[in-house]
Amino acid sequence: MKPKIFVARAVFPEVLARLEQHFEVESNQDDRIYSADELLAKANGKDGLFTTPSEPVTAALFAANPQLKAVCNMAVGYNNIDVAAATKAGVMATNTPDVLNETTADFGWALMMAAARRITESEHFLRAGKWKKWSYDSFVGPDIHGATLGIVGMGRIGQAIARRSLGFDMQVLYHNRSRLAPEQEARANNARYVSKEELLQQADHVVLVLPYSKDTHHTIAAPELALMKPTATLTNIARGGIVDDAALIAALREGRIAAAGVDVFENEPSFKPEFLGLSNVVLTPHIASASTPTRLAMANCAADNLIAALSGERPPNLLNPDVAAR
Ligand code: GLV
Ligand code: GLV
Repeated sequence: MKPKIFVARAVFPEVLARLEQHFEVESNQDDRIYSADELLAKANGKDGLFTTPSEPVTAALFAANPQLKAVCNMAVGYNNIDVAAATKAGVMATNTPDVLNETTADFGWALMMAAARRITESEHFLRAGKWKKWSYDSFVGPDIHGATLGIVGMGRIGQAIARRSLGFDMQVLYHNRSRLAPEQEARANNARYVSKEELLQQADHVVLVLPYSKDTHHTIAAPELALMKPTATLTNIARGGIVDDAALIAALREGRIAAAGVDVFENEPSFKPEFLGLSNVVLTPHIASASTPTRLAMANCAADNLIAALSGERPPNLLNPDVAAR
């Protein structure tokens, strides 16, 4: 008998077809968003779950489903999964690292440039029929080239962003839990490790790419924003909750920083409506990894993990190796 899985969200039909070769699949191609309790009920009798960052996978779900063997998230971030509870329950948890590094770095770069060079703000102006004349100072903003880039969270995506800065003659500062090896720093356009405070004070463009956890909650709040230059930009492609959105809104409103690019929000898909009243922020709906090839690669990566986990092999992207060791 094939193992049973639940695919918690709509996914590429070709990936679903692949899963159906290996499993008895119940899937949510209608793409309803299930509550934690509904997901817990859907997991009933299932050996595996295919999830996305929208689904909270809780200790209660593991307690109610002792038959569950694997939860495979289609994302590099996995703060939606209680991994400690999964480990305790003997459930393998996996993510999809690496396949999205370059695409996500491209998007971080695009969002930073859009914020600095006021691309969406000026496009709204044009579309609204307000463009009557060219002026020396319309939509002027800071430069990207030659500026100092500050990257908070220097994992694989952060390093891919740093590499892109070489073509823009930028200096790179970074802050991270741990320092990179010298050869990694060299490959990341000679990135220099500094304290978070020094980075915020010196960078012209700050990009956030760190994972969310209790420890990184509000990494950027009012005191951190106060350290930044009034001409600086802040780009968040990490996770909602890394930035105190209320503090960011206040800083943007008062012009204490020049602009921001925000792809992830506290409580998304809800967000603070005050963002919409600000012209100096570029807002996107959590799409940093959203190129067609990369989203397909992420879905296939999650499927690979599920197939390995439920056939007794070690999944390639296991987050809790203690479970496999048992
Ligand atoms: C998307 O946010 C991801 O974590 O992959
Ligand atoms: C601007 O359009 C220029 O020609 O400098």
